[in-house]
Amino acid sequence: MTKRVLVTGGTGYIGSHTTVELLEAGYDVVIVDNLSNSERSVLGGIRKITGRTVPFHKVDCGNLARLRRVFARYGFDAVIHFAASKAVGESVEQPLLYYRNNLVSLMNILQLMREFRVPNLVFSSSCTVYGQAEKLPVSEQTPRREATSPYGNTKHICEDIIRDSVAAYPEVHSIALRYFNPIGAHPSAEIGELPRGVPNNLIPFVTQTAAGIRPMLSIFGDDYNTPDGSCIRDYINVRDLAKAHVVAVGRMVDGRMKAPFEVFNVGTGRGVSTLEVVRTFEQVNNLKLIYKIVGRRAGDIEAVWADPAFANKELGWKAETSLEDTLRSAWAWQRHLDAKNKKNQ
Ligand code: UFG
Repeated sequence: MTKRVLVTGGTGYIGSHTTVELLEAGYDVVIVDNLSNSERSVLGGIRKITGRTVPFHKVDCGNLARLRRVFARYGFDAVIHFAASKAVGESVEQPLLYYRNNLVSLMNILQLMREFRVPNLVFSSSCTVYGQAEKLPVSEQTPRREATSPYGNTKHICEDIIRDSVAAYPEVHSIALRYFNPIGAHPSAEIGELPRGVPNNLIPFVTQTAAGIRPMLSIFGDDYNTPDGSCIRDYINVRDLAKAHVVAVGRMVDGRMKAPFEVFNVGTGRGVSTLEVVRTFEQVNNLKLIYKIVGRRAGDIEAVWADPAFANKELGWKAETSLEDTLRSAWAWQRHLDAKNKKNQ
């Protein structure tokens, strides 16, 4: 029988790409999203790519009663829980919003999984739990460090809530995926990242600068202890990341987990500097970016990249898309958005 997955935050950036990959792998999907940081039109993009209409419920995962109605209506085999607030800076200004939203949502999901006997949870965690590690790359054994923002702390605490819940409730299993820096868009350019207002993250800022929406890109610091002085990250193609969720769900529903709670790093294993990203973007898309070096951004860590060996071996998953193709896809998506906006004017 076809397995059905509840995707919370399914109209968001990673959620929408994961929904597409789940559908293409033969799963049924139901999306809940409160549309706080995404748009209903994303469902149209998913339909264009897959030819399938996904049931959608505009529900906030903080609302237990409304979420319960979704669980009561469908039988789920697994939940992928993306729905969360994710802006580091905003979390410093509004910590209670972040703690309430991110923690209560997860606890509601876990409660309903127990009530409705849904055994499998894939959780969106982040490499933010490692902070600035002493040794690079970071493996799953690298000790977690105290978070530098309320947002980061919610990921830390959510992992702990899952660990304790799985230990106490044998009917619940979970895989936490620690994402590195997801970038790019679906190769069809039908779905991608949809930042609201001024983007916080590097790639949407880069593509909006290239499109002339922003006058110039600021590079936050060139005095780090790295080969070119800019920060280093592990930029992972969003579709590759989405596929990691599909294999994680498969591992759970097929009963192939080796422990009731497993954690995997989802990265490429390659550290790339901010300046390298900018240069590669210019080169593959044949354009020039206006940028200047400015001071460091508060809270940025110098360098982090993944040791993905455990995920490669255990999940049989590997990041496949080159940085070049990923940066091409990011630009194609920006042009798609610009064309759509022009048409709507
Ligand atoms: N950067 C710039 N200019 C910009 C934006 C970013 O130079 O306009 C630099 C940053 O200083 C950083 C790199 O580009 O060195 C990547 O920055 P992002 O904001 O894209 O990503 P971060 O690594 O800061 O943050 C990401 C996620 C967070 C998560 C964090 C975990 O967005 O949700 O990784 O390390 F918490």
